[in-house]
Amino acid sequence: MMTERQRCWTPKALPMDSGSFFTGERGFRLFTDVADFVESKVKEHKSRIFQTRVLLKPTAIVVSNSAVAALLFDDGSEYELGYDDYFKRLFGDTLFLVEGPEAKLLRESLRPLFAESMLQSYQVELRERMRRPLADLAKCPRVNVYKYFKAQSMALCLDVFLGSSPNGASAQLKEEIAALVSTHWHGVLSIPLDFKFPMLMSSAYRKAVDAREKLVKLILRRLRESDDGFLGCLKSTKMSEELQVQFLLLAVSALIPKAFASLMTSFFCSSEHWQPLVDDDGIISDENLSNVLLEVLRLYPPFMGGRRVAKRDTVLDTYLIPRGTPLVYINMGAHTDPAVFPDPHCFRPFRWKHENSGDQRKLFTFGGGARTCIGYKLIFSGWKMICRILISEFTWEVDRASADVKLKYLPVLRPKDPLYVKFRPR
Ligand code: HEM
Repeated sequence: MMTERQRCWTPKALPMDSGSFFTGERGFRLFTDVADFVESKVKEHKSRIFQTRVLLKPTAIVVSNSAVAALLFDDGSEYELGYDDYFKRLFGDTLFLVEGPEAKLLRESLRPLFAESMLQSYQVELRERMRRPLADLAKCPRVNVYKYFKAQSMALCLDVFLGSSPNGASAQLKEEIAALVSTHWHGVLSIPLDFKFPMLMSSAYRKAVDAREKLVKLILRRLRESDDGFLGCLKSTKMSEELQVQFLLLAVSALIPKAFASLMTSFFCSSEHWQPLVDDDGIISDENLSNVLLEVLRLYPPFMGGRRVAKRDTVLDTYLIPRGTPLVYINMGAHTDPAVFPDPHCFRPFRWKHENSGDQRKLFTFGGGARTCIGYKLIFSGWKMICRILISEFTWEVDRASADVKLKYLPVLRPKDPLYVKFRPR
């Protein structure tokens, strides 16, 4: 809704970009070199909100920290998620795709799963299950950290969310699910060509829809046979069995392990900047470790950003956003907005103690507002615990300085070429 101040003046039209996704290389750079795209566009338009074409559709790009906050903290009156059936066929009516009262109800039902007491029990489980994989790190001559932590977190998600034990009767089921999750994921990235000829090939999307159907059956079987841990807690919510399965489908999707592996990789990649905060015995204060991790979240958000659609003509910052306009917000841009983060490209954990103390809400790595990531606390506490164990038990060498690491942004941020780390026990 427009404020009194906004009503007294006419909002401006968005600065327009001449480049287009197909005809100009500039729009395309949004997907290939986000940091460069943001820097050059902000310079060109002298604005942190501007319009470009994404997949031929005029789209507002938002890299101003305050404007991203306005989008995410909107109460649903100005913007909607605007996802179409393409994603719904792959994930069902799961929380991140639904809107309004339906989303509110679902979030409310899921709340007990992420309550403080549950987080503590997941931590115990996580510590126990990561003991061996972490000890094994020193046995490898060098570790491709993204690949290693992606595989470990996939196994971990299956264990935590489906309660399967690696050596028990459910090991085979777990393997079946892991293979289907991978096929399902390739459909998320594919163009939605829904064709299938018997005895011939089928599109990645079609395969993903088929994988989803099989996954739903396997997850349902697991849900019905176990009352322990996460599954037990999920079954005690008011959600229907169908909604429980849909939530599990998201929880074991490939997206979460990829995002977690991205965070782990950035933690190693940035270590030259924060190693001086660790003493000779491998001790780092809790405050310093939290600040290091906040700085990793700020400069290396796994997901490029997100999307909203204007529900009606509205005003963002000083700009008019016509009804139906898609808006893409870019986390890396919002997190390097000099209006909020002085010396924005510098990795400086101490900013969280001084000039940015209390500014955690200005990080959008896990979204913000009413639709903030429901797994945020679970991920942050688990990540911090793993990082603390690594710091206290190992020293390591990263094969390249962070300045020499070229980044890839989709589907999650990570080095273009594998980043190798050599671990030594302390
Ligand atoms: C490193 C790991 C993760 C990252 C970086 C991440 C990031 C995000 C982000 C950015 C959003 C907001 C999207 C938007 O508003 O456009 C989100 C939403 C969501 N996340 Fe996560 N997430 C992670 C892990 C998890 C985990 C472990 C779970 C649950 C098991 C989870 C469940 C959800 C759900 C259900 C939503 C939708 C919430 C809603 O719309 O109300 N995420 N996540």
